[in-house]
Amino acid sequence: MTRIFISYRRQDSEGYVGRLYDHLLKHFRPEDMFMDVASIEPGVDFVEALEKGIAACDICIVVMGPQWATITDASGARRLEQWNDFVRIEVASALRLNKRVIPTLVGGAKMPPSSDLPDDLALLARRNALELSHNRFAADVEDLVNVVRANLSPRPVKEVAQLAETLTQKAAALKIVRDDLVNATASPLYNFRLENRFFPVMGDGNPDAGIMFIGQAPGKVEAAEGRAFVGQSGEVLDEMLRGIGLKREDIFITNLILDRPPENRDPNPAEIAFYAPFVDRLIAIIQPKVIASLGSFAMQYLLKKFDLSEKGGKITDLHGKLIKATLPYGDVHFVPMFHPAVVLYSASQRETLKKDFEKLRIFV
Ligand code: URA
Repeated sequence: MTRIFISYRRQDSEGYVGRLYDHLLKHFRPEDMFMDVASIEPGVDFVEALEKGIAACDICIVVMGPQWATITDASGARRLEQWNDFVRIEVASALRLNKRVIPTLVGGAKMPPSSDLPDDLALLARRNALELSHNRFAADVEDLVNVVRANLSPRPVKEVAQLAETLTQKAAALKIVRDDLVNATASPLYNFRLENRFFPVMGDGNPDAGIMFIGQAPGKVEAAEGRAFVGQSGEVLDEMLRGIGLKREDIFITNLILDRPPENRDPNPAEIAFYAPFVDRLIAIIQPKVIASLGSFAMQYLLKKFDLSEKGGKITDLHGKLIKATLPYGDVHFVPMFHPAVVLYSASQRETLKKDFEKLRIFV
């Protein structure tokens, strides 16, 4: 059931709202939030649907950009004065039902005085506003999240149980992948694994992560420990994650190849063909919103798998780009990146990698 209603004007604050929604997704589930009128089915009375949505929610976040109160329609009439203005219906209902209404100012907007508001919205001017500034966006959203959390009614026990079940299911599904990998006797690298007493490296991190990284293949340290990116490249990766406020526990990290190739050579087509279905299963279980490839092998595999027009492109052209892709479970952003090891060979690449990691900040 919707617990958080996000009211906004597309023309006024759409960019901010998208960014806000992505942040909120780290704390709340999509089904907890109502954001888009597009989610009202055709043929349904939209006034009733909006009022029902508002009645069901605990919190109404009213995102207000600089034109929120002043925007006009094609005939020059102020939208806020019209009976069928979605925003007016939403905010008036929320005020009437005495919901927790949080005016959330973006783009330098100021709270309009009550004298500039229609009668049924006048009380909005008395609600304490919160500002989401461009430079402190993540921190400001954290403040908002704290207020929202404190004012949500407790989730019904049944829903809590379902959530726990999803996490348990993900963990159980990952265990099956791990078992299959341990027993992957048909792998072209299986004998090499046994001869060297190496471990396979399925990947580690949060089974429910919003961001998933896919590297190339485990190195010697990783194969000795059975964990991804724990050697020198891992140190660079940790530095980059820290730079955007992430920890390993926030993400999931794996590789295109899940056993160490001899002498850390590049993966060959037979190895990629063998391990790719494992990686596909990991993506399907974790269902990240963002997939970042580290290095050109993982990038090429994913461009092809997602059937993107960029396939065959060079990493020097594509690194740091946010590419939209549609997977069976939903839309994702795919972000090709250089492999962290580039920094070990060329210190000047540190800045490039940092800049590319910055692109992930909007999802953090
Ligand atoms: N390089 C990779 O691509 N993966 C690892 O796990 C370690 C180094």
